Amino acid sequence: AERTYIMVKPDGVERGLVGEIIKRFESRGFKLAALKFVQADKELLSKHYADLATKPFFPGLLDYMTSGPVVGMVWEGKEVVKTGRKMLGATNPLDSAPGTIRGDYCIDVGKNLCHGSDSVESADKEISLWFPEGVVGWERKLDAQIYE
Ligand code: GTP
Ligand code: MG
Repeated sequence: AERTYIMVKPDGVERGLVGEIIKRFESRGFKLAALKFVQADKELLSKHYADLATKPFFPGLLDYMTSGPVVGMVWEGKEVVKTGRKMLGATNPLDSAPGTIRGDYCIDVGKNLCHGSDSVESADKEISLWFPEGVVGWERKLDAQIYE
């Protein structure tokens, strides 16, 4: 099944929104495959955000993302990459629809609470980066109630 890397950023941890963000993916029916609470360093985050290295906001992004611990997770399910991005909302929270995580809980792009992989290829890379030990493959009986 398809997998995506979802991360609660330091502001989401600080604001006590870890449970809320997990809850939305759980309630939707996606299956948890890995979960980690970690203080990331700039080396790891430079790899994670390698495609943004030339952006003017990049140093600030590294400061933001290392300002506290993050919760990294892998969620699995049908079209979870695209659907996960929809659930997070637009990059700039002021453009995020109400009902999305960013649209319900934040305002500024530099404090936008959460990350979601933007493609299946990015997801594969990000999952190997954050979970080099691998993820949990398990059979969920509930799948029979979620997928036709
Ligand atoms: P992620 O899920 O975090 O990867 O966000 P995204 O895919 O919606 O956006 P993108 O990958 O382009 O940017 C990564 C992160 O960099 C964003 O989520 C923001 O936190 C930050 N960012 C992007 N653009 C800006 C910007 O113009 N200003 C600032 N301060 N931060 C930005
Ligand atoms: Mg991105």
